[in-house]
Amino acid sequence: MKRKVLSALLSVAMIATLLVGCGGDKPAQDAPAADAPAESEAPAADAAPAEGDGADAAAPAGEGGLIGVAMPTKDLQRWNQDGSNMEAQLKEAGYEVDLQYAANDIQTQVSQIENMISNGCKLLVIASIDGDSLGTVLAQAKEAGIPVIAYDRLIMNSDAVSYYATFDNYMVGTVQGEYIRDALDLENAEGPFNIELITGDPGDNNARFFFGGAMDVLQPYIDSGKLVVKSGQTSFEECATANWATEAAQSRFDAIIASNYSDGTKLDAVLASNDSTALGVANSLAANYTGDYPVLTGQDCDIASVKNMIAGKQSMSVFKDTRDLATQVVKMVDAIMKGGEAPVNDTESYDNGTGVIPSYLCEPVFADVNNYEKLLIESGYYTEADLK
Ligand code: BGC
Repeated sequence: MKRKVLSALLSVAMIATLLVGCGGDKPAQDAPAADAPAESEAPAADAAPAEGDGADAAAPAGEGGLIGVAMPTKDLQRWNQDGSNMEAQLKEAGYEVDLQYAANDIQTQVSQIENMISNGCKLLVIASIDGDSLGTVLAQAKEAGIPVIAYDRLIMNSDAVSYYATFDNYMVGTVQGEYIRDALDLENAEGPFNIELITGDPGDNNARFFFGGAMDVLQPYIDSGKLVVKSGQTSFEECATANWATEAAQSRFDAIIASNYSDGTKLDAVLASNDSTALGVANSLAANYTGDYPVLTGQDCDIASVKNMIAGKQSMSVFKDTRDLATQVVKMVDAIMKGGEAPVNDTESYDNGTGVIPSYLCEPVFADVNNYEKLLIESGYYTEADLK
């Protein structure tokens, strides 16, 4: 049922590619990466906005209290944008911000959250590295009465999680699967077509939603033989990529191409759950594959992947406007800090093992070479120079 609703929503998303789902007024886009602090920069003390640093004059700087924002890594472009957008918007709303990146190291993230708790953070916003590894530290947060918002990735098996804010992860997967279905015209074409699959980190709950959404579209064609996975690797575990690392994706594809596609056999499509894995696939194809580029999906509209889309080396991506997610999370933070309930729009989909976590799902948007200018440049997300 839910799937039907999602696929109806999907069609709307694909037609109205500019209708971003959850944003309010958009702030100017912060410069990416360069702005963000070093991965384990010392917290709190210097996190408060300097006077006259451009924060909304109406909002008394920092008076709302200290908010801890824990991000997984600076390695992937999107988290730099998530972090800087959140920091800017929280400061504008009058909060102090302790923003930390954990270099994809679980223990570093745990220590950063412990520090946030002992430094007096009033609320924690956490994009986890491994959704299952924060139980102990979050029990401390709960003990101290600190609410927790899981950001983008659900934190599993902890009853300390108050809310979840993300993009509709299942829908991301269906957008990717339906793109492949339509690009190969699987309904009508005779086939068979060769496809390979790659997804993300097994410790990231989102990866299963992306892969599940896409496979709900593609599996019937695999079952009927219209799609053939020559490597035989079709389970989530076989297709997973530790830490979503580009290098790991590339070496897995080096092996897949060497064993299955080095004799001129055509690879028609690759389902990649996000841009960092799609980049690994594209790198591997460039090094090892001589045929036409296959249909290749992605997610995030990372700069390297948008460049690849423009160059015809990646077919599509899914745009998740981190400004909109930040806006939504700031609304949630504000509501909670003022003693109210955070706004949510999904109370069914995300059970973290302790019960369903009330969630706000933003709408992901289909992106390709035909709409990226409108979506990414005209909206101020990137400059034209970023994509050169
Ligand atoms: C996010 C994706 C991202 C991936 C790797 C997922 O949890 O939802 O947008 O590509 O992590 O960082």
